[in-house]
Amino acid sequence: MANNEDIFRKIIAHCKEYGFIFQSSEIYDGLSAVYDYGQNGSELKNNIKKYWWDAMTKLHENIVGIDAAIFMHPRTWEASGHVGAFNDPLIDNKDSKKRYRADVLIEEYLEKIEEKINKEIEKAANRFGDAFDEKQFRETNQRVLDNQKKIDETKAAFVKALEDNDLAAIKQVIVDADITCPVSGSKNWTDVRQFNLMFSTQLGSVSDESSTIYLRPETAQGIFVNFLNVQKTGRMKIPFGIAQIGKAFRNEIVARQFIFRMREFEQMEMQFFVRPGTEMEWYKYWKDVRMKWHKALGLGDEKYRFHDHDKLAHYANAAADIEFNLPMGFREVEGIHSRTDFDLGNHEKFSGKKIQYFDTEINKNYVPYVVETSIGVDRMFLSIISNAYTEETVEATGEQRVVLKIPPVLAPVKLAVLPLTKKDGLPEKAREIMDVLKFDYNCQYEEKDSIGKRYRRQDAIGTPFCITIDHQTLQDDTVTIRYRDTMDQERVATDKLEDIMEDMVSLKNLLKTL
Ligand code: GAP
Repeated sequence: MANNEDIFRKIIAHCKEYGFIFQSSEIYDGLSAVYDYGQNGSELKNNIKKYWWDAMTKLHENIVGIDAAIFMHPRTWEASGHVGAFNDPLIDNKDSKKRYRADVLIEEYLEKIEEKINKEIEKAANRFGDAFDEKQFRETNQRVLDNQKKIDETKAAFVKALEDNDLAAIKQVIVDADITCPVSGSKNWTDVRQFNLMFSTQLGSVSDESSTIYLRPETAQGIFVNFLNVQKTGRMKIPFGIAQIGKAFRNEIVARQFIFRMREFEQMEMQFFVRPGTEMEWYKYWKDVRMKWHKALGLGDEKYRFHDHDKLAHYANAAADIEFNLPMGFREVEGIHSRTDFDLGNHEKFSGKKIQYFDTEINKNYVPYVVETSIGVDRMFLSIISNAYTEETVEATGEQRVVLKIPPVLAPVKLAVLPLTKKDGLPEKAREIMDVLKFDYNCQYEEKDSIGKRYRRQDAIGTPFCITIDHQTLQDDTVTIRYRDTMDQERVATDKLEDIMEDMVSLKNLLKTL
């Protein structure tokens, strides 16, 4: 685990050093859990978004995209349930003044005891070798039994407190379990309070005329409130979907793990409107389609898994996550939720406007059901970059190199154009080649430093191809192309470059595999 933490730290440092991600407002010591994407980060992010947008809107005739405003009428969030139910239970330690999510404190406590049990089992397994019977050991070892009892009792009390929505009982679980603050080491806790995760602000310039509005905590509601607009103006027939990419904001109590849990982040959401009673078919369909989209990038099928939810959000009747194996373990990157008619039904109630669809096939009016796919752009970014980060030794020279093996189609820079020297007409020739390719691909021209150094810089930002323009280029119009992952080099005619690039980096080819 320490090893993975170390790698995670290196990835974060690399993201900063090579212009992928910076802490927001760094010159003022940063803003917690808010990040800026740099010159390479924003290219990679845009490529991820384009892959998603095109897969949704170009490959599905019945999906269209919109771009709704971040600010919405405050009633939206009453209808969606976010004003009442988008809460986390928080608790403060009076000595350290640190704030925690009460449920996370309890979950971490349970994990620690579980770890103790696992250690006992590991020790015993080593001691007894093949003769070890884990079941028997769990049933008879007193330390394991005592720890298991603690887990069972704490869990039971915690689940009951959650079900009863009883904040005092949640605090009692913390007290009974003797949970201490990781910073001060004390048990001097405040009461548990509900903490709404929505950011609020004022709309309007005159204070007594202004009203409280929220920064949207999910993009989905911008789609729900536009359901009729899009359905009517686009003459959409159910089943159909509306896709959107945009910022969302949550005042996360425990925001950590770099861009995994941020306070300002970006979502790519698609709401698919279906006839009631068919939602489970579509739920399964979208689970498959979304998993295929992820796997098509070739990061390795074993890096993904589904996690079906036991505890459902207030709006869902089925939900699953697609998890990716990040440096800190398998974590949620995308959610697929069957949201029933909860949202449209509630908007109908709260707005007093009829939000229904007349289904000509069955001659019936109804409030459509919704299956949504919701993926965080930043978490997708984290999957790509952490999977790509590779430290390796170059066999020929024994040198260490850091290379980002980003899928070429998503790489921020597709091609580096490198004249061998700054004279003899090589820069001019290099620019000539770049002027042909730059309209289709993000190319970078570099003439400073040795070729070796320039290759390393391009490796570090994940550029899949480098071409070198030398004196032979002026004679026979060929260049050396060097491939990022294998470091193989070959001499190719400049008029073949477009085909080579197209073959390896075109989004079209990737979309065709879906
Ligand atoms: N409309 C449904 C919805 O918002 P969610 O599971 O709360 O569902 C969907 O969020 C996705 O948004 C998550 O799978 C994750 O990728 C991303 N996400 C949620 N909270 C986030 C945060 N604080 N920081 C970064 N990404 C986040």
